[in-house]
Amino acid sequence: MQNLQLSSNGSILTITINRPDKLNALNKSTIQEIHDILQLESVNSETKVIIITGSGNKAFVAGADIAEFAHFSIDQGTQLSADGHKLLFDYVQNYPKPIIAAVNGFALGGGLELAMSCHFRVASSNAKMGLPEVSLGVIPGYGGTQRLAQLVGKGKAMEMILTAEMITAEDALKWGLINYVVAQDELINKCTELASKIITRSPVALASAIKAVNANYQSNVNGFEIEIEEFGNCFGSEDFKEGTSAFMEKRKANFPGK
Ligand code: COA
Repeated sequence: MQNLQLSSNGSILTITINRPDKLNALNKSTIQEIHDILQLESVNSETKVIIITGSGNKAFVAGADIAEFAHFSIDQGTQLSADGHKLLFDYVQNYPKPIIAAVNGFALGGGLELAMSCHFRVASSNAKMGLPEVSLGVIPGYGGTQRLAQLVGKGKAMEMILTAEMITAEDALKWGLINYVVAQDELINKCTELASKIITRSPVALASAIKAVNANYQSNVNGFEIEIEEFGNCFGSEDFKEGTSAFMEKRKANFPGK
């Protein structure tokens, strides 16, 4: 892993994107590395929650690596976007374990798109967020036109995308783009505190919940039907037996994750 640092306390894995001299910009190999580690961790039953952050105290991710695509043709641009969706942005959104973005500084372009693919976001007070692509003559290509509107509504999304301006963490909080703003040195603690609650819950139910919530944002999919299906499926899990037995026996559940 050339561009990532990993640290784990057993249940919570923190992935730090580590290209500080390029403000952690997402080049092709970084995208592939994040995909590969997520794929590995998807079958590691020890890991329950993942936190994604950027190295240093200046940037989460300052975007896709502009140097890498500056000379691309129409076909290459189309492929870049399609590959990114598949390998990282859709992959993160649909990942069966909760992924929290710890936004520790600039989250621009592909950086904000990565944060928005995560299941929710916590930012440090110095963070700045924006989709500056139209200032480069291009549009957000890693899901930004869709996910930003889903999170903040069409009007604010249009404003951010068309002006290409950054917003502060405080505004992002007001607009619903992030869930909390904390001091930079509290950021990982806050994410860990939230993750620590999640790791006590049923992994089977967490995966079902992610699938059901995401279903509302997929075309040609009825989210209510997915909810019914996922709700029903939970009844076949060992987690459900354990969760309901623990409640009745007035003890804490110890979920097998099956
Ligand atoms: N792609 C490639 N390199 C990037 C990058 C990106 N998205 N963002 C920053 N970098 C590189 C810079 O080129 C610079 O490298 P260098 O030292 O080899 O010249 C280094 O990271 C530091 O960035 P710099 O611009 O000098 O820092 P700054 O504090 O003056 O400005 C930003 C910070 C975030 C405002 C500025 O870097 C920026 O606007 N980045 C691009 C944001 C963007 O448009 N993202 C969307 C891409 S689709």
